[in-house]
Amino acid sequence: MSEKKRILSGIQPSGALTLGNYVGALRNWVELQTEDEYEAFYMLADLHTITVRQEAKNLRKNSMDLLALFLAAGIDPEKSPIFFQSHVPAHVELSWVLSCNTYMGELSRMTQFKDKCQKHADNINAGLFTYPVLMAADILLYQADLVPVGHDQKQHLEITRDIAKRFNNAYSETFKLPEPYIPKVGARIMSLQDPTSKMSKSDPNENGYILLLDTPDAIVRKIKRAVTDSGSDVRRGEGKEGVENLMSIFSAVTGKTMDEIEAEFDGKGYGDFKSAVAEAVVEELRPIQEKYNELMSNRDYLQQVYRQGAQIANRVAMKTVSKVYRKVGFIQP
Ligand code: TYM
Repeated sequence: MSEKKRILSGIQPSGALTLGNYVGALRNWVELQTEDEYEAFYMLADLHTITVRQEAKNLRKNSMDLLALFLAAGIDPEKSPIFFQSHVPAHVELSWVLSCNTYMGELSRMTQFKDKCQKHADNINAGLFTYPVLMAADILLYQADLVPVGHDQKQHLEITRDIAKRFNNAYSETFKLPEPYIPKVGARIMSLQDPTSKMSKSDPNENGYILLLDTPDAIVRKIKRAVTDSGSDVRRGEGKEGVENLMSIFSAVTGKTMDEIEAEFDGKGYGDFKSAVAEAVVEELRPIQEKYNELMSNRDYLQQVYRQGAQIANRVAMKTVSKVYRKVGFIQP
């Protein structure tokens, strides 16, 4: 048995990846990989995407894009298996058992569910409601200790722990209780056009988000247009959410602290600051984009990565499902 701590996380291939996804999650996965005390599993959460209507053709493209971006960002599949959620049937199997241990009341309190009901009022399906149960299954199957995510997933981690505790109490110790790993800076990157709402690929205004595959020109343009305030000081504070958001982005990609950034731009205006942020983001993304382009012309390799990932993931996940089935009283096949 490995003594290493387990990590599990995932991203939905529901559209192009944003700088928010990268800074809030993917980038930290790459950093955690350099610490030898962890053994990580990274999942492309394709099952989750169909809670919102997807066009099959787009889903296929987005899935391969996201896989290439995981690799381009620096996830090493030899260290950390990368797999598609739909290639590991145990996710759906455990999800059923867990859904019989989850209350309607707790699911109806999920803010993401409430948000999505507003955004997709014509398609409030049962999957949207039970989404957190599937996410709990994703995590608990791998007995994960740590789940690196952005701030918006915190509530889903809490319900995962509640479900795990409830199951453990009812059927004896079965699941590890996972901890969220939420970065201090960058866990909530906000829209560049509205710093009160999170940067999201579903934003109808494309100036609100930066995509990992945006051209340098587009990145510069979007950052130059980012909403700030009528002042000119690069610092945090009341009414300065727009500047603070740009500072978080700058901090995340350069490793400078917020205090260091305030000192560096003391007496300089927003123009200088925005140019520096844009340049830092362009330089951070340049090697990722180059690697991505290389990988997309090597389909065989991509296939090999996800097949190998699914093999390893299936082994671990099936073990947990067998244990759970045994505990609830199903006859062993
Ligand atoms: P998803 O696909 O919406 O987002 C993927 C990751 O990106 C983070 N994130 C952000 N971080 C900072 N600022 C932002 N503006 C921003 N937008 C997104 C998210 O917090 C997330 O970490 N339900 C999950 C996917 C999932 C999962 C899992 C995650 C399915 N199963 C198991 C962890 C463990 C989701 O929809 O993330």
